[in-house]
Amino acid sequence: MEILLCGICVVLFLLTIIIIKIIALKNIIYKKPAILSDKKILTIYYSNGGNTKCVAQNLQSIVGGDLKEIELIEKYPKNIFKMSKLIRKQIQEDFIPQIKDIDISNYDIIFVGSPIWNFSVSVPIEAFLQNNNFENITLIPFFTCSGGVNKTKVITKFKNITNVKEIKKPLYMFENGLFLIKQQIIKWLNNI
Ligand SMILES: Cc1cc2nc3c(=O)[nH]c(=O)nc-3n(C[C@H](O)[C@H](O)[C@H](O)COP(=O)(O)O)c2cc1C
Repeated sequence: MEILLCGICVVLFLLTIIIIKIIALKNIIYKKPAILSDKKILTIYYSNGGNTKCVAQNLQSIVGGDLKEIELIEKYPKNIFKMSKLIRKQIQEDFIPQIKDIDISNYDIIFVGSPIWNFSVSVPIEAFLQNNNFENITLIPFFTCSGGVNKTKVITKFKNITNVKEIKKPLYMFENGLFLIKQQIIKWLNNI
């Protein structure tokens, strides 16, 4: 009986903490980070299944600026098994696919969104990072994933591939945690 009561107390305590956190998140207010002031902002993303696109659209609606999608010259197969097999083969062989050109020369700040593939950046985003000059640009990455990320590998990849001077702390969003998206994004932006 005592054990049962203890169990109920622990569950109630945890529920209270979760409710307090959700209320705090719901009431969060966006404070525009100083680094975004008077800057030309681009939010760019690659998304195969729509999760990263959803985060990108919400992010752009908060920070303003332009929204662009990275498109592959040769699209992946629609069949999920064939698609996953091909992507894994490309990652194994360090294959970088061809993407359509995007002019980024007008921007000061670029939010770059990618799904996490094999614990790291997706290969279409690798292509985008390889193909462009980021000399005078601040990169702010964001990712969607299902759970397994090698955060050190992700940032090292950004630093090794690009000539970027400044990379801000990325946002990682779990695909099954895509609720109160705007509020989660604001929480991250407020601490950038
Ligand atoms: C080929 C492939 C590999 C993946 N590898 C990982 C992984 O290593 N870690 C992880 O957390 N999620 C992984 N995922 C899940 C995706 O990161 C997740 O579903 C993401 O939200 C998909 O974004 P999208 O809908 O914008 O394409 C993988 C998905 C695919 C298709």
